Amino acid sequence: MNFKQILISGFLLWLFSVVGTTLVAITQQQTIERIAANEKKVLLKNLYALIPASKLNNDIAQDSLVVDANPLLGTQDQSLVYRARMDDEPVAAVFNTIAPDGYSGAIHLLVGVYANGKLAGVRVVKHNETPGLGDGIEIRKSDWILAFDDQSLENPLPELWKVKRDGGVYDQMTGATITPRAIVKAVKNTLVYFTQNHETLFL
Ligand SMILES: Cc1cc2nc3c(=O)[nH]c(=O)nc-3n(C[C@H](O)[C@H](O)[C@H](O)COP(=O)(O)O)c2cc1C
Repeated sequence: MNFKQILISGFLLWLFSVVGTTLVAITQQQTIERIAANEKKVLLKNLYALIPASKLNNDIAQDSLVVDANPLLGTQDQSLVYRARMDDEPVAAVFNTIAPDGYSGAIHLLVGVYANGKLAGVRVVKHNETPGLGDGIEIRKSDWILAFDDQSLENPLPELWKVKRDGGVYDQMTGATITPRAIVKAVKNTLVYFTQNHETLFL
């Protein structure tokens, strides 16, 4: 191989590596954007499942408030609260609550609370509970989570915010009490947080 051939080979090698790296970078960027778009779609689907679109006319996913970590929300870091409004009037706040004490660790929830303190509803967005035992908390597996619709700290009274096994009003699941117990506690605590902070949540 003469010098010229070596130069051409070197150049081709360089060219391929530049083109390859660029292609990987572009694909990665597109993937990140697609993941972000998908996450927003899932978030919006969940938010609108909790607060019907007819009850708000703001961009709820964009109208968010950063709140500090708080044990009542189960958070160890700042989290986002989404605000639903109709003609600028507060309609509901949706919290990213964490139930830290599931059977297999943290259970991530969206908890929607209407301005009057009644629950719009609850959805599980991430968990590691056992399939067939604790995963009945997912809306696609059972309607257990719908038991929270319209509930508040007045109905049932705070001392009844427990699973039936513990003297409260919420069903446990067959062979799985730990998961529902964790969620009942987290939802109740979110309502307490809402009561303590409702004046600043919509500012
Ligand atoms: C492998 C395995 C997985 C389990 N997964 C769960 C679970 O995801 N959620 C839960 O509440 N209990 C789970 N349990 C059961 C708990 O250990 C506990 O027995 C149960 O929550 C207590 O409810 P019970 O008094 O109604 O039986 C699991 C148990 C085993 C052995």
